[in-house]
Amino acid sequence: MYRSHTCGELRIEHVNQTVALAGWVQTVRKFGSITFIDLRDRYGITQLLFGEELNKQLDENPLGREFVLQVTGIVTERSNKNKNIPTGDIELTVTAFTILNKSEVPPFTITDETDGGDDLRMKYRYLDLRRNAVKKNLELRYAVSRSTRNYLHENNFMDIETPFLIKSTPEGARDFVVPSRMNPGQFYALPQSPQTFKQLLMVSGYDRYYQIVKCFRDEDLRADRQPEFTQIDCEMSFVEQEDILNMFEGLVKRIFKDVKNIDYSEKVERMTWEDAMWNYGNDKPDIRFGMPLLNIKKPASVYVNKKDQSELVGGADFKVFDEAETVIAIAVPGCSEYTRKQTDEITEWVKRPQIGMKGLVFIKVNTDGTYKSSVDKFYSEEKLKAIADAAGAKAGDLVLILAGTEERTRKAMSELRLEMGKRLGMRKDNEFKLLWVLDFPLFEYAEEENRWVARHHPFTSPKPSDIATMINNSPVITDASKYLEHPYANIKANAYDLVLNGNEIGGGSIRIFQRQLQEKMFEALGMDEAEQQHKFGFLLGAFEYGAPPHGGLAFGFDRLCAILGGSESIRDFIAFPKNNSGRDVMLDAPSSIDAKQFDELQIKLDLKQ
Ligand code: AMO
Repeated sequence: MYRSHTCGELRIEHVNQTVALAGWVQTVRKFGSITFIDLRDRYGITQLLFGEELNKQLDENPLGREFVLQVTGIVTERSNKNKNIPTGDIELTVTAFTILNKSEVPPFTITDETDGGDDLRMKYRYLDLRRNAVKKNLELRYAVSRSTRNYLHENNFMDIETPFLIKSTPEGARDFVVPSRMNPGQFYALPQSPQTFKQLLMVSGYDRYYQIVKCFRDEDLRADRQPEFTQIDCEMSFVEQEDILNMFEGLVKRIFKDVKNIDYSEKVERMTWEDAMWNYGNDKPDIRFGMPLLNIKKPASVYVNKKDQSELVGGADFKVFDEAETVIAIAVPGCSEYTRKQTDEITEWVKRPQIGMKGLVFIKVNTDGTYKSSVDKFYSEEKLKAIADAAGAKAGDLVLILAGTEERTRKAMSELRLEMGKRLGMRKDNEFKLLWVLDFPLFEYAEEENRWVARHHPFTSPKPSDIATMINNSPVITDASKYLEHPYANIKANAYDLVLNGNEIGGGSIRIFQRQLQEKMFEALGMDEAEQQHKFGFLLGAFEYGAPPHGGLAFGFDRLCAILGGSESIRDFIAFPKNNSGRDVMLDAPSSIDAKQFDELQIKLDLKQ
């Protein structure tokens, strides 16, 4: 028997018992004729005491960090108790030990605050995983998965696996492809998600399906994206949007309770896509704080229903505002006393290439009732007051204003709002706010190709009230400059995203389940009949055999874990993640393959430069 207990288990009530432990050497501290060793395993750390006799043996067989050790000894009460660890009341007076394996000196310290940089830790991920901080993240991930499975099982969902070697199911990203040896010159695609399979399972009658499943997307990576990531993928039959929203806010609330012991009893807020874009400049707003965006110049026509905003900045000969497509303000609470240095710094922040604005205008709403602005020259105090009031600013606030083209300005203001929220401590890690974003446009206009693309994916149903508009109108865009006037621009999708603290943690839709509408959708996306048949013949065929009404969604499992764990990076919650270039630096993958493998695949490599 290697061990009778774990390194996190022994307490004062075990005193005088003879026990065996096994684990890794965390630290070795020698004091004259005795040695203290901290022994670590997955469960904790126990202090070992090597008395005089054994110390001599240690001198002959010196121990180093990360050696694997097995010890037998007697649990003893410590005189010098360590209140910081659960085993701190006791130590193990060692009577015998065996070195099970030696270790090289690890390339970084296996401690919470390590001296290892990102690349080094990834190269030796198996050592990094020994660190408590990483282990806690994986434990959280497992807790989320357990909670998910329990909830879905209790609600009659069935876990069904779907294949990885499939035919391309475009969902907006590029596919990873795998050559087939048995079918030379032909390729499988790895699924970007099990979307079509789960829909086929609905046709087959498995009315509540789920899977915690890997998805593969060859896209540019960011902190919240990996080329292979995990989804909690779900689908239900005989449901409307409301059924889905209720079922899955239930799931997230259950996860909050099980994993974080948070009772999220309030109703999950809902917002239309248009309101989200209008008020926050973003389709995944962080609603832990206010600071909404306010248009102080008539906006571009994309927000067709929002034209009632007042015209506040015209007629002052201030070119920047006069020539801008849009002018947007936010009121930052309690910052009217920002110094010149501070406002300059924010101005530099919005000028960074990632934000891309040319400058920033501010109005200080001083507590003495006066107004100070970077555009004093152009606007009277009365006018400044009108703008500040419209932005909802109170005495002591700082109004920040950006001007430029509609899309860029709105996006930049969204970023600035988030940044100011962060600087003012309004985005707390331990506060969680869920939000459903609803009523997305079904289509997006792809300028380069002068055609429509699906905003979510091609299987998403339009709102029932928009189906006729879709069926009765041709998708062809005759005048690209007037695409916003095309009937398709206003069609809303029966789709929903779940947002947590400004992150899209999940998304889904009610699906098209009739062949005719699905064909119309493919046609709208520019696929002729032959292409539809080639790519999606199987799905169109299935819709001819009694497809039930259905819908579903998928959560970004890694993202959900990262947010619950208070981290911005999903990598911290994946045991073996890839770096920002999509590389596994531990395996050194991707890498070239043998000539023999190419031969078997009948492929000749001829890389284009
Ligand atoms: P979607 O593409 O919105 O929907 O993906 C669902 C959720 O998966 C997460 N996600 C990612 N996480 C990490 N790395 C990535 N590269 C990545 N891409 C997406 C996001 C996202 O909300 N089949 C549909 C779902 C459906 O309609 O049921 C789908 O895949 O959190």
